[in-house]
Amino acid sequence: MKPISFALLGYGRVAPTHLDALLALVPEATLAAVCDTDPGALEQARQDLDARHVPPVTPHASLDALLADPAVDVVSVCTPSGLHPEHGIAAAKAGKHVLVEKPMGVTLPAAEALVRACADNGVHLFPVYQNRLNTTLQLLKAAIEKGRFGKIYAINSTVIWRREQSYYDSAAWRGTRAMDGGAFMNQGIHFLDAMRFIGGEITDVQSTFATLGRTIECEDTGSALFRFKSGALGNLFVTMLGMNDREGSLTVIGEKGQVKIGGTAMNTIEEWTFAAPDPEQDALARDADYHTASVYGNGHKAFYRQVLDTLRAGTPPAAAGPELDSLKILLRMYDKDLTKQG
Ligand SMILES: NC(=O)c1ccc[n+]([C@@H]2O[C@H](COP(=O)([O-])OP(=O)(O)OC[C@H]3O[C@@H](n4cnc5c(N)ncnc54)[C@H](O)[C@@H]3O)[C@@H](O)[C@H]2O)c1
Repeated sequence: MKPISFALLGYGRVAPTHLDALLALVPEATLAAVCDTDPGALEQARQDLDARHVPPVTPHASLDALLADPAVDVVSVCTPSGLHPEHGIAAAKAGKHVLVEKPMGVTLPAAEALVRACADNGVHLFPVYQNRLNTTLQLLKAAIEKGRFGKIYAINSTVIWRREQSYYDSAAWRGTRAMDGGAFMNQGIHFLDAMRFIGGEITDVQSTFATLGRTIECEDTGSALFRFKSGALGNLFVTMLGMNDREGSLTVIGEKGQVKIGGTAMNTIEEWTFAAPDPEQDALARDADYHTASVYGNGHKAFYRQVLDTLRAGTPPAAAGPELDSLKILLRMYDKDLTKQG
């Protein structure tokens, strides 16, 4: 069977994670091309491929050249966040499937336009929220679906990571409202998405944001309080001012159970307490931890596997519902900033 062929659009910090996820799927998938407007990034891609003993792939210096490349089936959009809609829409119009890094965009109209363009052109849209596929979160979701918590009272997520000023200074787009957003839009969105995955729809939202320790346009720290439709309370705290990447956790407090998924990127089970045992799930929980060398976690591999399986199955594209909803709630949090309300 002909392999499905991908191209990486934007070869910066996250791109090597995509590269490794893709290479794990060879020969079912191949990397056909890399596109970046920065020649240094194309050279880095060449070196990374060489280091992995992979023959060079076509380097494209412009999006137009990439989209004219008939060898490419799927474009993985790894450019700055504010460019995702424009780049994804161009790829969709060229008949390529679109895999897009989070967030899908930094404004709702632009992200909605991307969803529409993919639907109108009959191509799949795969927004990357790789943490949903973590073994830890999958197990927690299964425990919820089995009703093991009884009533869920509250869900808390805490993200204490460190991003130096040099990280923000490393590219002009970082920390800007038009291209990036702050700690919530860039890093926190993963945890908000996980909270929605676990707790369901979010209704009332209140929040507060501040730029306390970095020189950037957007927030480096923020806190949001909300209610789930189920009645449970939610609480998300995100800061990029930790002394290190200390914690990226999610805790569920229920009537008959309490679970904390911790580590730096929701990769370990720190507590798994239930009033009633479930031998099969409890045994899986003892083995669900995994090591991750970066706060991106290990989910990109599972994510690419899912993309490949979907494309192979030939199922028609589904609308990107949950992923758009996470962006909607996040933008509502920015709107409901208490400090804006005086
Ligand atoms: N899922 C995750 O865990 C995760 C982790 C890191 C980053 N991300 C997301 O990935 C995206 C990229 O982040 P990054 O840290 O790799 O950024 P980066 O700045 O390191 O890389 C972006 C690359 O895009 C290139 N580029 C910019 N405009 C271009 C254009 N018009 N055409 C072609 N190339 C262009 C730049 O030259 C650069 O090499 C962001 O949206 C970020 O939020 C996701």
